[in-house]
Amino acid sequence: RNARLTLDPAFTVAPVPHRLFGSFVEHMGRCVYTGIFEPGHQAADERGLRTDVLQLVRELAPTVVRYPGGNFVSGYRWEDGVGPVAERPRRLDLAWGSVETNEFGLHEFDTWAREVGTETMMAINLGTRGVQEALDLLEYCNIGGGTRLSDQRIANGSKDPFGIKLWCLGNEMDGPWQTGHKTAHEYGRLAAETARAMRQVDPDLELVACGSSSRSMPTFGAWESTVLELAYDQVDYVSAHAYYQEFDGDAASFLASAVDMDAFIEQVVATADGVGARLKNRKRINISFDEWNVWYQSRPHKDPSIEKWTVAPRVIEDQYSVTDAVVVGTLLNSLLRHGDRVTIANQAQLVNVIGLLRSEPEGPAWKQTIAHPFEQVRHLARGQVLRVAGTSDRYETARFGDVDVVDASATHDEESGTVTLFLANRDQEQPARVEVGLRGFGAERVLSATTLHAGEGQDRHTANTADAPAAIAPRALEDVSLVDGTATVVLPPLSWSVVQFA
Ligand code: AHR
Repeated sequence: RNARLTLDPAFTVAPVPHRLFGSFVEHMGRCVYTGIFEPGHQAADERGLRTDVLQLVRELAPTVVRYPGGNFVSGYRWEDGVGPVAERPRRLDLAWGSVETNEFGLHEFDTWAREVGTETMMAINLGTRGVQEALDLLEYCNIGGGTRLSDQRIANGSKDPFGIKLWCLGNEMDGPWQTGHKTAHEYGRLAAETARAMRQVDPDLELVACGSSSRSMPTFGAWESTVLELAYDQVDYVSAHAYYQEFDGDAASFLASAVDMDAFIEQVVATADGVGARLKNRKRINISFDEWNVWYQSRPHKDPSIEKWTVAPRVIEDQYSVTDAVVVGTLLNSLLRHGDRVTIANQAQLVNVIGLLRSEPEGPAWKQTIAHPFEQVRHLARGQVLRVAGTSDRYETARFGDVDVVDASATHDEESGTVTLFLANRDQEQPARVEVGLRGFGAERVLSATTLHAGEGQDRHTANTADAPAAIAPRALEDVSLVDGTATVVLPPLSWSVVQFA
């Protein structure tokens, strides 16, 4: 298999968006409870935060973390999660059929986010609640003091305001499964008025309107159009959510999932820009891709033996394989390639629930295969996103037609002179020889080269587990050279590789 690519320092897409490497913590299953928070665990600190998980999160270094949901937020009363823990109510969580103890709430999350060194992206409940409760939450979080709710925050232990800039106006309000689901018109009006009121408190907030829960929603396109017509001036971003999976052993199509993500992004951009044109508005609405991942949604969400209304049940604890990691790499490529318009993205979720990480109650924590491409792109994509020109051999897929065998994105950090290539070989049997023209960069050497694929005694289904937590991880890629400004990289079959030149 072959691909010929050309990069040029002048052909840039955008600066690498800092918030593209976000994650998501929802009160769902074991993401919070026995995920990031487990008082009594041997690695828990005095606040109940699991320091083993914290250490892994710090290595991933998500730049922004969305909280507290997800579907959960559409029935959530934030007041339940503040004040003395012993007095916090236990509530039904309608979204996931479980019981929320509220032992972990706003203050605990703020403490955890500070420990990680990440920005909070706060979602508000626009399912069962509205403008006033959003204003109350904003006052509680962001006002310095001297008002009822800001003083209450201080009394509850946080003298300094949380200072949250980025807010999601609800979650997946287009979905009939959402508590308080709305039509596009109902939601667009509510989002606009909530945003208008929140901006009366602070005009500099950054606000995300709900877009579609997936590109296959029957309302996709029309939803974005109506919502943005009603809320264009009041919001900064429209969200997109997408989860991919392998159907019936069709790995060839699954590996091409980024083709769908590319199209999704381009269609949302076209729709948003179309509304801007109709409104004669020069402002640009960007995309917050605030839920994306591989998720085997066709499997039951939880074991049928788990009763309703339990605390922190095991829900969608997908175990990720080599194939899933390669797909995640290509989805990161898609996000980077569109870095001019997708400026926020959150891989969903952080721990246990379709998690980058896994942790066991009273047990160990480890990185799933999909954590590796995330961590690499997070740390190594620097400077400018480059336009990747060129051609790749193609292959036929049942779901997405003809698709490139080699999927690529690239960045250029002018300061260090480093060019970084992120490459996936979608061919399951054959290696791919990739030639990359780098003449304009003056690169002289290969700085580093790694690849993630199934090694000896493994196959494409191999996963990391509690017993073999590092079975799948990036390892050295030997077959890389740079001669007279042309790089040659040989990618193993079904692999995700990162190569840097300087
Ligand atoms: O991330 C899991 C769920 O997927 C979220 O709660 C919801 O927003 C989406 O449907």
